[in-house]
Amino acid sequence: MTATLETLRQWVQQARHLAVLTGAGMSAESGVPTFRDAQSGLWAQFNPKELATEAAFRADPQRVWDWYQYRRALIARVQPNAGHRALAAWAQRHPGRLTLITQNVDGLHERAGLGETIALHGRIDADQWLDRPRPCCQPDFLEDGRPPRCSVCGNLRRPAVVWFGEMLPTEALAAAETAAQACDLMLVIGTSGLVYPAAGLAHTAHRSGAQVVVINPEPTELDTVAQTCWRERAAQSLPALLAD
Ligand code: APR
Repeated sequence: MTATLETLRQWVQQARHLAVLTGAGMSAESGVPTFRDAQSGLWAQFNPKELATEAAFRADPQRVWDWYQYRRALIARVQPNAGHRALAAWAQRHPGRLTLITQNVDGLHERAGLGETIALHGRIDADQWLDRPRPCCQPDFLEDGRPPRCSVCGNLRRPAVVWFGEMLPTEALAAAETAAQACDLMLVIGTSGLVYPAAGLAHTAHRSGAQVVVINPEPTELDTVAQTCWRERAAQSLPALLAD
């Protein structure tokens, strides 16, 4: 079904509980590369198996650490876009009615002023111990470009993001599932819908009777569960959709 902007605006205004699931396309207009866009996608230039798995980090910590440092530097230079700001403003005007679930690790929703988000894949601007920390673990934060390690036992620090093959943070996933079951409208913005369990949240919302709207200039794997697909870009379209 093709819905007009007016219809979608009514759906948003009437939503008691709006759940929003965002992916890399949400930050594309801020200048953050997506993963699977044909030319510009990160996975078109880099092999995720060599950069976004625990095995890759254990095999070559420096190479993986360097790649995340490169992405951290890029993300530190960009700003939230009009789409991030429109979502944050809506949440502030309608306290308690929006649950923002993101696959993105860039922190741009938070930097736009969205107080609470469910970061399913972690945050790139944080790191954590590679192995369960031992009492001795004191990161030796030498700013020498090497991944910090404990100066006593050699435990390494790694980016606090979810790598391929890893479980998502239990609490975050449970909160996202609850929101997907409880919402009456879910906006699915800027995701190809290829990676589970995040993509499964749109199916959960659909099964629970919510209206699902996919906002993406391209077709996605989640179009089948959408009431309607809005072939629009996030920053360009969300301000009009979310204005009161
Ligand atoms: N506005 C809205 N959508 C956009 C825009 C835009 N301006 N630009 C691109 N898109 C869409 C693309 O059409 C594509 O469908 O964003 C989507 C990005 O898809 P992916 O690159 O696959 O990113 P995502 O769906 O977030 O990937 C999920 O995969 O690699 C892992 O952990 C990583 O969180 C990521 C997960």
